[in-house]
Amino acid sequence: MRKIMVAPSILSADFANLCDEIQKCEKGDADIIHLDVMDGHFVPNITFGPVVIKSIRRCTKLPFDAHLMIEKPEKFVKDFISAGADIVTVHLETKVDFDTIIRKIRNYGAEVGIAINPDTPFSKVKEYMDEIDYLLIMSVYPGFAGQRFIKDVLPKIKEAREYVDKEDLQVKIGVDGGIKHTNYKEVLNAGADILVAASAIFGGDIVRNIQDFKKMK
Ligand code: DX5
Ligand code: ZN
Repeated sequence: MRKIMVAPSILSADFANLCDEIQKCEKGDADIIHLDVMDGHFVPNITFGPVVIKSIRRCTKLPFDAHLMIEKPEKFVKDFISAGADIVTVHLETKVDFDTIIRKIRNYGAEVGIAINPDTPFSKVKEYMDEIDYLLIMSVYPGFAGQRFIKDVLPKIKEAREYVDKEDLQVKIGVDGGIKHTNYKEVLNAGADILVAASAIFGGDIVRNIQDFKKMK
């Protein structure tokens, strides 16, 4: 049985009480804090950057995943890692040299994630699978919290799971977008290790919402 990991995305948190909200995530036994970084270019929304990450670093010991939805991630890798990101996740759809950025992230001491949009096939990321720690499969088009889960990605999650198992890789599979208590079991059954969720966790009792995701009955 795979361990179910939960990564609350603070995008739906109360930003006036961010530290407190993150500590509730820790109490609920969250595994990773997911940080949605948006630049208004790669996605049509703007969120926060290294300054905010640096200030919330003191709130928790949980690992931080910086999900970079920005056009030129290579320019900012060092800043995000210095600010406290333990994992840096870069979109395959950005026009960067992946061998270089993977090396760069590792050299600065963080783990490497690659994210793929709903319309990017798994075959496109295969060549990097033995170089990364984390594959983030988007189940919405990135930009906003609270969107509807795109069911068409379920076969892709399954394909990624089968590949990771067949090749005996250590890559963790995360799924991000539209995950609710009504559909998370399908996502886990398809093969996800990590559930990323914003609105389903921060809309209500944070501790309970996380704990409920960890129950696979
Ligand atoms: C989407 C972000 C997601 C988002 C998830 O651009 O990458 O992490 O916050 O939000 P929910 O869980 O509300 O769909
Ligand atoms: Zn995200």
